[in-house]
Amino acid sequence: MAKTLMLLPGDGIGPEVMVETRKIIEWANTRGADIKIKEGLVGGASYDAFGKPLSDETLKLCRECDAVLLGAVGGPKWNNVDYAVRPEAGLLRLRKELDLFANLRPAIVFDALIDASTLKPEIVKGLDILIVRELTGGVYFGEPRGIEDLGNGERRGFNTQTYTSSEIKRVGRVAFELARKRRGKVTSCEKANVMESGKLWREEITALHAEYKDVQLEHMYADNCAMQLLRNPSQFDVIVTDNLFGDILSDEAAMLTGSLGMLPSAALGAPGSPGLYEPVHGSAPDIAGQGKANPLATILSFAMCLRYSLGQPALADAIEEAVRSVLDKGTRTSDIMAKGSREVSTSQMGDALIAELKTAQAKAA
Ligand code: IPM
Ligand code: MG
Repeated sequence: MAKTLMLLPGDGIGPEVMVETRKIIEWANTRGADIKIKEGLVGGASYDAFGKPLSDETLKLCRECDAVLLGAVGGPKWNNVDYAVRPEAGLLRLRKELDLFANLRPAIVFDALIDASTLKPEIVKGLDILIVRELTGGVYFGEPRGIEDLGNGERRGFNTQTYTSSEIKRVGRVAFELARKRRGKVTSCEKANVMESGKLWREEITALHAEYKDVQLEHMYADNCAMQLLRNPSQFDVIVTDNLFGDILSDEAAMLTGSLGMLPSAALGAPGSPGLYEPVHGSAPDIAGQGKANPLATILSFAMCLRYSLGQPALADAIEEAVRSVLDKGTRTSDIMAKGSREVSTSQMGDALIAELKTAQAKAA
């Protein structure tokens, strides 16, 4: 049965990496994926067109699709725009409205890119960790929030960190389930030593563990986790944490791999509701439009989409395998360039991947 996929290229390098991803979507269609594409505006592009970073019409289209694939949002052009309508607010609204509470952010070190990491090769070799970040709660959405005038030129800025039991349990469940299919270990991170929301987080995850006795559970303070990620990242399998800590720890984990340009992510809600797939990197306005962007994170996000939302795990495997081969052959965009490799543009990377997919297909036939 046909599936619909909503493309939201967004800002900065978003549109150019999406052009390459479209090539891969078309390839998937030649292999029976039967994906119908729709397209819309998000972020600054939507703000410029409609005065808001996500229009109701676009949101409606997203709801009706099987999945949404987003490029990136934001840029200096919108720095002075009000928070409520900034490009980032469009992304946050999309996450919240679709109730995408579980954000899966893998950090995988490809053997061919081991030297791209700033850490020693022996520390990051074979690294494969998965951060499960809570995405629709916590301090990002907690009320009250604001900046108030205290008089005398003094002001007070405030946000609220809040979690309910059910918010913690549903994301915890996702982490335990995923760990079962991986190496069977969950590290839960909070600051239970200083925050009540962290104490509740630890208690709820501990209680939930009773249903997942086959999975090993450890608790870690988030600051210690930040340190352990640099000291010995291979100790981790699945890390589950709140919205803000997850934002920070996932950037750190991403950089262990050497390039943000390589990392995909998935945001999932209740079964049957559309998932949102996006690269972990931002809109990189400094290199936008120059053919320098690495399209692989978005293409790998599409692979996750095939696996989790479009029911095509074999095609997802084929894309991930092709990415590995292309890298093994020394094809590199500038962000992952190394001595002796061949530097290619954004579109050449897309073409190289298509060639690789076709070669692999011919070999298998
Ligand atoms: C991310 C980004 C977003 C976040 C921004 C763009 C709102 O940093 O997806 O990690 O903070 O969640
Ligand atoms: Mg972030």
